[in-house]
Amino acid sequence: MSVFREDVLAGKVAFVTGGGSGICKGITAALMAHGADAVITSRKQDRLDESARELADATGRACLGVACDVRKPETVEAALDAALERFGKIDIVVNGAAGNFLCPASQLSYNAFRTVMEIDTIGTFNVSKAAFEKALKKAAGVIVNISATLHYGATPLQAHAAAAKAAVDSLTRSLALEWGRSGVRVVGIAPGPIEDTEGLSRLAPGPIRDQMIAGIPLGRMGTIEEIANLALFLCTPAASLVHGETIVADGGHWLGGAALATLMSS
Ligand code: NAP
Ligand code: COA
Repeated sequence: MSVFREDVLAGKVAFVTGGGSGICKGITAALMAHGADAVITSRKQDRLDESARELADATGRACLGVACDVRKPETVEAALDAALERFGKIDIVVNGAAGNFLCPASQLSYNAFRTVMEIDTIGTFNVSKAAFEKALKKAAGVIVNISATLHYGATPLQAHAAAAKAAVDSLTRSLALEWGRSGVRVVGIAPGPIEDTEGLSRLAPGPIRDQMIAGIPLGRMGTIEEIANLALFLCTPAASLVHGETIVADGGHWLGGAALATLMSS
């Protein structure tokens, strides 16, 4: 049973990039289970259609899947237009679309680095700017940027994603500074390792998984539902003063994961 009132987002419309899979599908499910209708976007229309059906069946709310590539402003604008045509407004934007893989910086091609920067950072800007102009400033809306903790220290084999998420956090602060007076709140979430996700299977294959858990003070990875609940909280009036901040939800992992793992194994 949810700790939130079932209708806390009644009448709201959410636009979620990356909402067809993983963490952002979980976020969409939580927003819808609490009264919101949703539009989910990513590049693959088939997966979006299937996820939209599943989300609508599970929550009784309406969900529309619209393909777009967050790197291409014209496709972002078209997806926002489709959302507005169907629902008439957008109150919540979740920027979750991202790309990542393990690769030493010396072996990253120029295009590989640029690709991750374009999806995570430029994609977050493209969607936020277009949604602000078309909808959010009319709706006193909320933007939730999905970040990470990779760049708090430094993370091996992740120069691309760490740089991209550092820029996302910077955007969260800059957009909060500029858009607060328009009534738009801008916040972020920095998840640690989350079970049963594409991100985790790419970044912590095989034995690295157990080592990672040894470095988490709470002794376990997070769940999609835990990140979804945090996103839900940030979209409710309970978070009305939270602005420009990126909230970490990682069981304490980034505090000193490697040192803790070494201690635990000695
Ligand atoms: P995921 O399911 O692979 O989510 C990424 C989503 O982005 C997919 O739905 C993908 O769909 C979409 N996407 C990729 N490129 C796109 C593009 N150019 N345009 C539009 N959509 C695009 O992975 P996840 O693990 O749940 O990650 C979700 C978010 O959480 C990401 O922002 C990630 O950085 C963050 N995060 C995850 C973890 C973790 O442990 N999993 C930890 C920290 C942060 P298509 O391929 O269909 O386009
Ligand atoms: N290691 C090193 N380089 C890689 C790579 C890897 N595992 N995967 C892709 N690249 C490189 C490619 O070789 C290419 O560079 P090149 O043109 O110099 O050869 C560049 O990255 C772009 O790859 P491409 O496959 O053309 O990009 P895309 O736009 O189709 O896909 C990715 C983007 C690469 C991020 C892809 O992994 C993806 O779609 N990810 C979405 C899901 C995801 O990453 N989820 C986890 C989120 S945490």
